[in-house]
Amino acid sequence: MEKIAIVTGAGRGIGAETAKLLAKKNMAVAVLDLHEENAMEVASQIEWEGGQAFAFGCDVGKREDVEQAIAITERKWGTPLILVNNAGVGGPFHRVDEVDDEEWEWIMNTNVKSVFLFTRNLLPKMKQAGYGRIINVASIQGLLGSSYSSTYVASKHAMIGYTKTIAAEWGKYGITCNAICPGYVNTKLGVRQEDISDYYRRVMDKSPVKRVAEPLEIAALIGHLVGEHGGYINGASYTIDGGISAHVGITSDLTE
Ligand SMILES: NC(=O)c1ccc[n+]([C@@H]2O[C@H](COP(=O)([O-])OP(=O)(O)OC[C@H]3O[C@@H](n4cnc5c(N)ncnc54)[C@H](O)[C@@H]3O)[C@@H](O)[C@H]2O)c1
Repeated sequence: MEKIAIVTGAGRGIGAETAKLLAKKNMAVAVLDLHEENAMEVASQIEWEGGQAFAFGCDVGKREDVEQAIAITERKWGTPLILVNNAGVGGPFHRVDEVDDEEWEWIMNTNVKSVFLFTRNLLPKMKQAGYGRIINVASIQGLLGSSYSSTYVASKHAMIGYTKTIAAEWGKYGITCNAICPGYVNTKLGVRQEDISDYYRRVMDKSPVKRVAEPLEIAALIGHLVGEHGGYINGASYTIDGGISAHVGITSDLTE
């Protein structure tokens, strides 16, 4: 076993692929998710393939749940030095004046407070170990605005600002912190190929590569950032969107 990793929201989608990939890289992985049964399925799959994992049901927006998840991981294996803050929710499409307090708090707690809770707890322990890798799964909506998604956009921008500050404060202790910014991914939250609506057809039209990403393609970037050769990357926000955010998109079809 090389290192101990915590992956949040790992019961499905990007988190599940990340947990499996890190286990293949010889890490012991705490598979955390709100839906414990999904987390258990992923952990069993990892163990069946010869890796080390355990599942824990945890609401990442709740301090007691986060503290318990970390404590259980520490008791089982030791200090987690790799943290992937992946759990996230998109929420419904609402105009700014339609968002109620409950929706705001749900999205901000899940996407942002969670990152604060895990990071605050683990940073002093990583400092003691002289090593830490933190990956915050943001979005291209952490870099750009997007109509009818104001709370999600605000939450992902917050994650990126937080990432940069952690990088600046803690780099001297051997700890790096980076964000990744996926575009559209073939997951429940992103777009399942089987229910492609007009909305997603427009997404794919704007994408230079004319497809959405597979979760493993996102996990692979995370794997690199926490891997052996990732140590000089700190405070970065990696766009991984097939080129969607690289162009304005108005003239792309003129010659076709
Ligand atoms: N799919 C995309 O197109 C896309 C694009 C950009 C960014 N992202 C980000 O990637 C991350 C993973 O998304 P995904 O596409 O795999 O989505 P997904 O919905 O398939 O998986 C998200 C997981 O997070 C878990 N989760 C939700 N709330 C939680 C909570 N309070 N506590 C613990 N777990 C919780 C869910 O149960 C689920 O298993 C999210 O942060 C999302 O914002 C996704």
